[in-house]
Amino acid sequence: MAPDDYDATSYLPLRGGLPAHRRAAAECHGCPLYRDATQTVFGAGAATARLMLVGEQPGDQEDRAGRPFVGPAGHLLHKALAEAGLGDEKTYVTNAVKHFKFTPAERGKRRIHKPPSLCETAACRLWLAAELRLVHPDLVVALGATAGRALLGPSFRVTKDRGAVLSLPDVEGDAAPAAGGVVATVHPSAVLRATDREAAYAGLVADLRVAADALAG
Ligand code: URA
Ligand code: SF4
Repeated sequence: MAPDDYDATSYLPLRGGLPAHRRAAAECHGCPLYRDATQTVFGAGAATARLMLVGEQPGDQEDRAGRPFVGPAGHLLHKALAEAGLGDEKTYVTNAVKHFKFTPAERGKRRIHKPPSLCETAACRLWLAAELRLVHPDLVVALGATAGRALLGPSFRVTKDRGAVLSLPDVEGDAAPAAGGVVATVHPSAVLRATDREAAYAGLVADLRVAADALAG
């Protein structure tokens, strides 16, 4: 499959809610990432959630568990959400790309995370668009550059766009935008890797407070 041919269209159900989409996504071969991953990691949470969180792609633990944000990045994210006053908010959590991309470590069994390509992200975007349409959240939080680009377009930059309520461009074919707004912030994994982890964490919490205020307002 050539990168220009990656396309999930034929795997998307023509009707049905989140459960039907989750079942269909489990069979998606829209790009080559399904080959080496354990399973599709579709979004999880309440279809009635007002807040949707979008990460990059499942990591090693998410790939094994079949659920998003259950590893170290997820722990940090949940701590930051609680600190920002969003601990009790019902959420729907997902990723821009639904399969884990990795390279095997030179020695041992460890699998090293690899960022998804633009073609993989573009192919998988149909699933994200369907989740947006079906959950129709009041607010979306984009965690990091891959999620930001998938939601807001190629000119998105975390440094210039974070921490503000932005409007979601219309999803193709939809008459109305599928969410009230988007707040972008850093990816929780970037906080874990940061040299000044405390400052990076405080930045994440501050951006999530912007999201909390927007939801409350
Ligand atoms: N990082 C992500 O972007 N998503 C996950 O689900 C886990 C780690
Ligand atoms: Fe399909 Fe997305 Fe998985 Fe590619 S990453 S096979 S488009 S679900």
